[in-house]
Amino acid sequence: MTSPLRQGELAEPIVVKVALGARAYDIVIGRGLLTGLGERIAALRPGAKCAILTDATVAKHHLAATEAALKAAAVPSSAIVVPEGEGSKSFATFESVCEQIIAARIERSDLVVALGGGVIGDLAGFAAASVRRGLDFVQVPTTLLAQVDSSVGGKTGINSRHGKNLIGAFHQPILVIADTALLDTLPAREFRAGYAEVAKYGLLGDAGFFAWLEANWRDVFAGGPARERAIAVCCRAKAAIVARDERETGERALLNLGHTFGHALEAGCGFSSRLLHGEAVALGMALAFEFSARKGLIGEAEAARARAHLAGVGLPTHLKEVPGGVPGLDALMDLIAQDKKVKRGKLTFILVRGIGSAFVENDVSAAEVRAFLADKLSQQ
Ligand SMILES: NC(=O)c1ccc[n+]([C@@H]2O[C@H](COP(=O)([O-])OP(=O)(O)OC[C@H]3O[C@@H](n4cnc5c(N)ncnc54)[C@H](O)[C@@H]3O)[C@@H](O)[C@H]2O)c1
Ligand SMILES: [Zn+2]
Repeated sequence: MTSPLRQGELAEPIVVKVALGARAYDIVIGRGLLTGLGERIAALRPGAKCAILTDATVAKHHLAATEAALKAAAVPSSAIVVPEGEGSKSFATFESVCEQIIAARIERSDLVVALGGGVIGDLAGFAAASVRRGLDFVQVPTTLLAQVDSSVGGKTGINSRHGKNLIGAFHQPILVIADTALLDTLPAREFRAGYAEVAKYGLLGDAGFFAWLEANWRDVFAGGPARERAIAVCCRAKAAIVARDERETGERALLNLGHTFGHALEAGCGFSSRLLHGEAVALGMALAFEFSARKGLIGEAEAARARAHLAGVGLPTHLKEVPGGVPGLDALMDLIAQDKKVKRGKLTFILVRGIGSAFVENDVSAAEVRAFLADKLSQQ
């Protein structure tokens, strides 16, 4: 007899394997997985203790349950709580976190657990990569963005005064536990912003998934099994790309679809709550599709279809939707030129030959981008 399931609960978690040889690891996806965290950690690293890094908001919602899950499996833990927000990806917070990990007597055989969104994952991963020349770490992502993107693939780091994510290391986790129930406490706007990255996987490489999202996005938002399925599709896509191109020398750049325009807009808004990362990516993807249409790579209808889905879930797709407005043309072009995806004066963009077929174009002329953005700004 099968036991009755709560609505949305899966009988078996979904396991996605990240095939990186000696650094291979599992991403486990399912509702309610947090309670088994301690057992999984004890099985992977018997006798290890954990430093849990989290932010103040996530701590309020999920730290006690995390500590209880570790305690239940006799895994000793201590917690390090930093302020929430991008400001914690700083040298000052990094220093404080490293010192606290050392003070908690976390040794080479112990673990760091990142309990939080992308900010915590990036900070914890970089601290783990650095303390004692490298500690193992486990990701417990608590935002949709972190579950489908930042917790997978091993990019870790903090921000420089010169730009975002300029100081860091590739350091793969040994396990990712994506408990989709943790997303139930996420503010709706944060969930929606993370959904932009979900749609990104369809738009860049999987037309079938995009069509499925068009039909099922409401269930993904509602939190039933469609949410697990969508997260699993994204993790599988990212895992496959990362396994083929761990250090972003080629294909991994496709994951930057919408990010060149997006980063410029995000920076132009001072990385403030006016425009969340995922919102900037939604806008950036709408622009990338339109730019591709303008270059004759796709028809207008296909660009309109991509935009319609993003707009349909409530994401911004027009520059005029950014509260407080966007920077002017010169400022936007400067920001695009500063982006790290610029090589020898030519701009690199991820363009599309259709929904589900993105490619890296290294030879986009700045003048063409400028003319395109001038049109878009004049339409505001
Ligand atoms: N390493 C990578 O590959 C990679 C990829 C994409 C993004 N990133 C980084 O990720 C960061 C953005 O991540 P994010 O969008 O997850 O932001 P975040 O970590 O700041 O989380 C967003 C907000 O949601 C709150 N929150 C998190 N989980 C919650 C929950 N379950 N319930 C209630 N509130 C919760 C946080 O306190 C925060 O205020 C950026 O710094 C970006 O550079 C990294
Ligand atoms: Zn992104």
